[in-house]
Amino acid sequence: MSIRLGIIGAGSIGEVHAKAALEAGQKVACVADVDLDKAKLLAAEYEGCQATAEVKELLADESIDAVVVCVPNRWHKDLAIESLRAGKDVLLEKPMGLNVAECAEINAVAAETKRLLQIGLVYRLSSVGQAAKSVVESGDLGTIYHAKAHLFRRRGVPGLGGWFTTKDVSGGGPLIDLGVHVIDISTWLMGTPTPKRVSGKVYSHFGKQMKDYVYEEMWAGPPKLDGICDVEDSAHAMIHFEGGGSLDLQVSWAINMPTPNMESAETIALFGDRGGLSFKLQGNHVDVASQRYGRNVDTRILLTETDQFTEQARAFAACVESRQTPITPGEHGQYVQAIIDAIYESSATDREIQLNK
Ligand SMILES: NC(=O)c1ccc[n+]([C@@H]2O[C@H](COP(=O)([O-])OP(=O)(O)OC[C@H]3O[C@@H](n4cnc5c(N)ncnc54)[C@H](O)[C@@H]3O)[C@@H](O)[C@H]2O)c1
Repeated sequence: MSIRLGIIGAGSIGEVHAKAALEAGQKVACVADVDLDKAKLLAAEYEGCQATAEVKELLADESIDAVVVCVPNRWHKDLAIESLRAGKDVLLEKPMGLNVAECAEINAVAAETKRLLQIGLVYRLSSVGQAAKSVVESGDLGTIYHAKAHLFRRRGVPGLGGWFTTKDVSGGGPLIDLGVHVIDISTWLMGTPTPKRVSGKVYSHFGKQMKDYVYEEMWAGPPKLDGICDVEDSAHAMIHFEGGGSLDLQVSWAINMPTPNMESAETIALFGDRGGLSFKLQGNHVDVASQRYGRNVDTRILLTETDQFTEQARAFAACVESRQTPITPGEHGQYVQAIIDAIYESSATDREIQLNK
């Protein structure tokens, strides 16, 4: 379907969404950004696309069917709600909100306005995510009892000193930034089990020594060494589910991990009583371990890579047209956020957190 789309936030991911929408055959009709120059710069890439510094102006345009909200996390709730109330269907970037209360508020407005709400948990739509789901659904893994969701960056704090590292604006560090993706994909593959109890620990060392920080990547702009860094740089947790399953979660933006260990720095793995699988979020294959013909067998499913953002744009437009529930609805954004909130609480209080009592 060719929808007319508005982009709210012309930053790094706004650009990716606009490109994906075009690729998916949609019309990028307007870009809004508080920084008008950025809005203009992005809009100039798309024929007939308007630019504005006023989100209200974009939302007042009745020819626009839907919007992508891709601004810093602190404004997710307000702009998603404003867009839903303006009658737009919304693709909201991750994390859904700063905490579970914000997610619940957004979900309530989506239900009240009967607008579509899809959360940017984009890895479900990657070729590895889709292939892993097919393996799980084939039953070849049997009952999945444990999963591993690891995503370590050794020195990859985004925009050190900027909004990503300012808790007020981001809600946290790698746990809310990367953790959202890996918690979502692993629990989705496990069948979205109900979390029961969570034990977590987050560490904040690198922000305290930011003037000495030697970095390998700085993808969200140059470091501001006089800026704020009051978020964690790594998070480690064990999540226990109803029914007995568990998830080992480890994420970092910065950690002193020797290079040889970085080989397995990005791993989603599922362990079932009949088989197991593993893949990298950015990879092009899924490895499956099973016992067959009296042997332990490894199978590698090699995939033609697709662009998950284009797949996400297609899936969103299809739901806008059909009014079907998106693959990543608001309830899943809230589910993931509840786990994240519990990890932060567990770390802050030094105890295990019981959920869904
Ligand atoms: N799905 C993914 O893998 C992925 C990757 C990167 C970022 N993100 C998410 O996308 C969001 C944006 O990240 P980014 O890297 O593009 O940030 P960014 O800083 O590059 O861009 C954010 C843009 O939003 C604009 N903005 C800020 N407040 C605004 C407001 N109130 N109204 C309109 N515009 C406003 C800023 O001027 C800026 O241009 C974040 O929530 C981030 O977590 C998701």
